[in-house]
Amino acid sequence: MQDITHKIAALKEEKNAIILAHNYQLPEIQDIADYVGDSLELARISQSIAQETILFCGVYFMAEITKILNPNKTVLMPDQHAGCPMANMISPHQLLAEKQAHPDAAVICYVNSNADVKALSTICCTSANGVRVAQALKENKILCVPDKYLGSYIANHLPAKQFRFWPGYCPTHMVFSKEGLLKLKEEYPDAKIVAHPECRLDVQEIADKICSTSQMIRYAQESDAKQFIICTELGMLYRLQKENSGKEFIPGSPNAICPNMKLTTVEKILWSLERSEFEITVEEQIRAKALQSIERMLSL
Ligand code: 13P
Ligand code: SF4
Repeated sequence: MQDITHKIAALKEEKNAIILAHNYQLPEIQDIADYVGDSLELARISQSIAQETILFCGVYFMAEITKILNPNKTVLMPDQHAGCPMANMISPHQLLAEKQAHPDAAVICYVNSNADVKALSTICCTSANGVRVAQALKENKILCVPDKYLGSYIANHLPAKQFRFWPGYCPTHMVFSKEGLLKLKEEYPDAKIVAHPECRLDVQEIADKICSTSQMIRYAQESDAKQFIICTELGMLYRLQKENSGKEFIPGSPNAICPNMKLTTVEKILWSLERSEFEITVEEQIRAKALQSIERMLSL
């Protein structure tokens, strides 16, 4: 392993490259990354990078956002098959039909979506800023795509607005259940339940905190609690534990694994840097329109 990490470090220098990794990536990848974060943080960081090449360890839509924001840089993904099933749950044709049926509604698209869907949306949001984004819109009617659970979470905070939800969801976050969590609470009665807004609503109802992956780290740091039941992908536990050594993090389910996030390996990172593969491209017309909805979000 040390041999590979040394080779990666040397290639990064040679190719003027930097590594960004999402919080769900394998521990050894988080350890060699230059930055680890949630979707919003990584999008913002990508805009202030001096290096020519950004190697993105995460899923496709995240690397795609990086390319949309940085068209003059080379954006690489170690495994181009690392997609997000939720992002594929709505097509541009389906969104166009919804827009035609509800022409007075603004469209908020979760960043877990493809560029052609972003291009048709009013504004993007992430799990960290969904409520703020919806609040900032002048429109009273809002269509949330593709995640119905993030959409419902936003709607619960803004009762004065009218919401419609596309019926998409994250398969990984479906493994958490209210029953399972109440059982865990019997074992850890003082633990706080921390859930991602992609969780089902009965899970959200009993959570002490609902937030993005990086917001979970800040919550754990600031809370007086010593134990936390974490309802998001298992990769998150590594960073939570690393940055909160005196506290205990219990998985809300042992099955919360995003298989796509785990497709990236250290070996594939080395291959990717050696060959400059796989390069992310976005058709310019779509990129320009998707950029507008991402920039509207980033300007808030
Ligand atoms: P975050 O932006 O909270 O890291 O979430 C991204 C994601 O894909 C959650 O499943
Ligand atoms: Fe997509 Fe769910 Fe994986 Fe996040 S955890 S990347 S939403 S499939």
